[in-house]
Amino acid sequence: MLDKIESKILEIVEEINYDEATRLFKKLNGGKRLRARLIATIAQMSDDAIKLGSIVELIHASSLLHDDVIDEAVTRRGVESVNASEGSKTAIMLGDILYSKAYTSLVDFDPFIAKSVASAVTRLSVGEMMDVKLGEKFNDNEDVYLKMLDLKTAALIESSSECAAHLMGYDTKLYALYGKNLGISFQIIDDILDITQDEKTLGKPALNDFVEGKCTLPYIYLYKELDEDGKAKLKSYHKKVLNNDEKHWIKTNMEKFNSVEKSYDLAKKLSDEAAKAIEGDVALEMILAKMLERNF
Ligand code: FPP
Ligand code: MG
Repeated sequence: MLDKIESKILEIVEEINYDEATRLFKKLNGGKRLRARLIATIAQMSDDAIKLGSIVELIHASSLLHDDVIDEAVTRRGVESVNASEGSKTAIMLGDILYSKAYTSLVDFDPFIAKSVASAVTRLSVGEMMDVKLGEKFNDNEDVYLKMLDLKTAALIESSSECAAHLMGYDTKLYALYGKNLGISFQIIDDILDITQDEKTLGKPALNDFVEGKCTLPYIYLYKELDEDGKAKLKSYHKKVLNNDEKHWIKTNMEKFNSVEKSYDLAKKLSDEAAKAIEGDVALEMILAKMLERNF
């Protein structure tokens, strides 16, 4: 499945007919291709499914190119980010090229699909801005945080699932619900891994979210449990490069108050809700199980 998706993505990039874009694109690590795999799984590997999955992956890749500029990230999926190796201007322009090319290919699909994907991109862009704004100061509001995840990460996964269902003539609402819950759950797991895994496994620095200003769910749950002194201490660590003692304090207190377990429980609950929407679809249940179990 992955081979077909990768070669279709490359085919679309080569249609741009600009060697520099192809060269830079080839340097990217493609990652898990979750969105394309989801579309291909639901829509049974049809040509339309592979093409739509490739378009969505190009949109996702361009959003990450821009995100790494915004987050000033130097690594992405274990390799140097484009902004680090080629500069931010190149990363933004490559993102623009891939993103607009994906849109050009998207108009080959019917308006339901074009509208679903295009509006998901607006939502993920709003989610990104919310994420940046939320990161400006310490946030302990769980609902606001989850709303941001719904936009930033779940929107495109929800649309992928909905559009694949549309290609098959399935109930798009149920598949959209599956994708939304899969997406939020996926991002919660991502937030957990930032705390529990090391740099080598993650392909980016560990415990970096909080340094970037992101008060992810385990931090929100930890904050709720701490006494006044602890709360002040955690706040003072926000957006700061932490030394080993400070990292140790965060990890020890997260263990004491089960902050990671509580976050995992919510990811599991959302994953169960996703499973309920597509009850009996073993392949989609497997995607949920793998997403929960993953360690990078
Ligand atoms: C990663 O979040 C970022 C996203 C999933 C979305 C980024 C969206 C945009 C930049 C706006 C849309 C732009 C285009 C061109 C379509 P993260 O920083 O929490 O995750 P990370 O640790 O993987 O960087
Ligand atoms: Mg980022």
